[in-house]
Amino acid sequence: MLNIALDGPAGSGKSTVAKIIAKKLDILYLDTGAMYRACALKCLKEGVDVTDKEKVEKIITDIDLEIRYENGTQITVLDGENVSSDIRKAEVSMLASTVSAHKCVRLKMVEKQREIAASMDCVLDGRDIGSYVLPNAKYKFYVTADSEVRAKRRYKELIERDEKVDFDALHEEIKQRDYNDSHRDFAPLKKADDAVVIDTSDISAEEVAEKILSYVL
Ligand code: DC
Repeated sequence: MLNIALDGPAGSGKSTVAKIIAKKLDILYLDTGAMYRACALKCLKEGVDVTDKEKVEKIITDIDLEIRYENGTQITVLDGENVSSDIRKAEVSMLASTVSAHKCVRLKMVEKQREIAASMDCVLDGRDIGSYVLPNAKYKFYVTADSEVRAKRRYKELIERDEKVDFDALHEEIKQRDYNDSHRDFAPLKKADDAVVIDTSDISAEEVAEKILSYVL
């Protein structure tokens, strides 16, 4: 199977780039962040404190989470319900970062990610794909950008979706998520030793995709 690992911090442009690459190569795109977001949403719905390891473990062990594709687009299904847009809400982002730090949550999601990656050609975006989930992936990229640039991108995305957001608060949240994601004990956000690093601060998503495709094609 062709698996392309695309890691990097929040707002680095991974998902936009991954979608372009998937389309060009006619393969699927697996957004692994959506899976951690669904875990966070589950906790939110059940009133479980995402920092409470025991309660989180209990609820995530039996989580009814399914990744489906409709016309090539990923649909995230939680308890039989399409939650693809609910998981994108700003309040879910920070909860996802916190819940994803629990080893029990990661082990469960990584198992699903490996199964999916073994079953189809795909580009996966996340934080630990090249370093932990698929250490043997043939192609690994680490995309990053200045935190202010990343916050601006997220801001634009949320505003376009009519969400009310304060730029400074969003920038702070991005920095806090960077810290959380890269400092957790188990499988943190990390560049794999053999990943190609691309700084996306001053280049467009199309240009990043072209760069990546030049390695793959
Ligand atoms: O990519 P995203 O912003 O949708 O991810 C939401 C959170 O999920 C992120 O802050 C950290 C976590 N995450 C992770 O720990 N590992 C991944 N492979 C993907 C996301």
